[in-house]
Amino acid sequence: MNRIGIIGAMEEEINILKEQMRDVTVKTIASMEFNEGKLYDKQIVVVRSGIGKVNAAVCTQVLSDLYRVEAVVNTGVAGSLRNEINIGDIVLSTDTLQHDMDATGFGYEAGVIPRMDRSVFVADESLISLAKDICETKIPEISVHTGRIVSGDQFISDSAKKEWLVGTFKGYCTEMEGAAIAQAAYLNNLPFLIIRAISDKADHSAEMSYSLFEEMAIRNTVKLLGGLIEKL
Ligand code: ADE
Repeated sequence: MNRIGIIGAMEEEINILKEQMRDVTVKTIASMEFNEGKLYDKQIVVVRSGIGKVNAAVCTQVLSDLYRVEAVVNTGVAGSLRNEINIGDIVLSTDTLQHDMDATGFGYEAGVIPRMDRSVFVADESLISLAKDICETKIPEISVHTGRIVSGDQFISDSAKKEWLVGTFKGYCTEMEGAAIAQAAYLNNLPFLIIRAISDKADHSAEMSYSLFEEMAIRNTVKLLGGLIEKL
């Protein structure tokens, strides 16, 4: 794989990676700065999409149409939905869905996208296994989990909502872009992987915890991403 698109929702999620790149060309498209350049002799495009599913989907489409990337990797932070997944741990997506897709009033189950052949988007197995190996060998101090990531245009900071997400979708963690990137990747026949480090527990403590641990969580994903790009 030689052309990889890397999306972070926020500047702080991609800054360190941008600093490590060489021969960088910057273009603004759809109000997003696309940084194309080299890292470990791989051609990569690093971009801040902005927060939320619409920004994330538009960003993925540009990577596909204009940069012709061969895979999309999304990096960032997330709220944990399981007791055993702690702050600083990494979650790799097996699959992802939109928890706020709601056509239940029309008889569909929660999370189901009407008139689409699927609502759950499955991540690329070789990207998952490579990322898992890198975590275990290069950053053994971090626990890595592989499971479902649920996305919605909502910051989850409420235990009842958290319980609903776990009961309804069996999610490992929740964030605001992954499923949109995954859906856009699926529509364009592109492999993808969502990599998230846990910044909070998606409950009443989430806002405080997020501010305290965001930076540490991001450092963990950056370590993994460097290793991943090198090995791809
Ligand atoms: N990103 C990080 N923490 C989150 C949370 N609790 N809900 C949604 N997105 C998040």
